[in-house]
Amino acid sequence: MATKVRMWLAILTLAAVLIFVSLSGPTQAAGDKDMRPDVLKIAGMYKSGKAADAETAAIKIAKAFEETSDLMHLFRARNKGGIGWGRAPLGPNPAEDGLEKKLQLLADPKKPLANVAKEAAAAEEAAHDLAAMAQLIRNKTPGKDGPAGKTKKAWNEWSEQMRDASLELAKAAGAKNAAGIAKAAAKVNSTCNACHAKFKE
Ligand code: HEC
Repeated sequence: MATKVRMWLAILTLAAVLIFVSLSGPTQAAGDKDMRPDVLKIAGMYKSGKAADAETAAIKIAKAFEETSDLMHLFRARNKGGIGWGRAPLGPNPAEDGLEKKLQLLADPKKPLANVAKEAAAAEEAAHDLAAMAQLIRNKTPGKDGPAGKTKKAWNEWSEQMRDASLELAKAAGAKNAAGIAKAAAKVNSTCNACHAKFKE
């Protein structure tokens, strides 16, 4: 009997260890579901000008995750579990290699792009990622209107403005238009801030 109990304990311990290891992989660390592949998939549709496909895909994908925070942490720096700015790591300062941080830097009129020819490609990729994020956020409307302006309508408007401004950013980057990039980045950034002021605790 005692041997049987010990055997079961060993099996249960092993199972617990395996479950723990599978849950604590690097891509899972910041949320329950790794949304990065889905975001990149939708971004690819925006890149090829297939906005209608992106919208259909976002509706389906948004049903498969629970928490807006699973998405929001992707705005962090690449080395903090975020998507990063563009596909290739952005040097030389890893803290700037994130959708949120780099967007804020670009939106600052005192810091125009030093070398638009060199930075445009990453900005265009990042802009498509931002549009994809916005379209997923758009499908995470709160179930009901809350107090103090936390309405479903406000949520939807800000996520749509974020998507449209992101596509403007992609266009300006594609045209290597430094002033256009700064202007669109500021627009995207203001939609993040507007929504956070109401909905983020
Ligand atoms: C339509 C509303 C909305 C928009 C637009 C929006 N956010 Fe958020 N964001 C939220 C809410 C709500 C939270 C809090 C979610 C939570 O943690 O449960 C949040 C949380 C965050 C967080 C913290 C996530 C974490 O836990 O690490 C970051 C970073 C973030 N947002 C960045 C951005 C950036 C950058 C943009 C714009 C490019 C943006 N958000 C646009 C609603 C929005």
